Amino acid sequence: MKIHMLAAFALLLTSVQAGIAADTSSLGGSSNVQSVSAGAVIAQGQGYAKASCAGCHAADYKGHPGKSPNITRSGALKSYTKAQFAALLSTGKKSDGKQLSHMPVLGWPASKSDPTYAYLKTLK
Ligand code: HEC
Repeated sequence: MKIHMLAAFALLLTSVQAGIAADTSSLGGSSNVQSVSAGAVIAQGQGYAKASCAGCHAADYKGHPGKSPNITRSGALKSYTKAQFAALLSTGKKSDGKQLSHMPVLGWPASKSDPTYAYLKTLK
């Protein structure tokens, strides 16, 4: 079931991007550039999350009970704005103002945390 949904999502993303690419070329370019880059940003964030977060927060980012929290929209992410998330991944400061205790401070620039946030926001 989960695999199916993921596959469907990937297909949807691919076809949306293909559709937009076709649109953009027929319109001569500018109107859909924003949507194209949003898709690309999410794909970039997916790569960062897979490489740097899935190891501790699980492949579906729902966490491991007693070890690491769920970091999808239904979990910890719901108490984070994009700016707060950037602070967390840069300095380890949580949205409640406290410092992380077990998770390493990653020192990430916003150029990495923003796409990761955009991707995690797509997960329920
Ligand atoms: C080495 C394991 C580890 C890695 C790697 C890791 N985390 Fe965590 N994360 C944790 C643990 C453990 C917590 C529990 C809170 C703490 O450490 O204080 C946590 C907490 C969180 C929280 C909730 C913070 C809060 O307000 O309670 C978020 C959001 C989060 N991680 C996101 C991420 C993201 C995004 C990545 C990848 C860029 C990541 N984590 C990588 C272990 C990890």
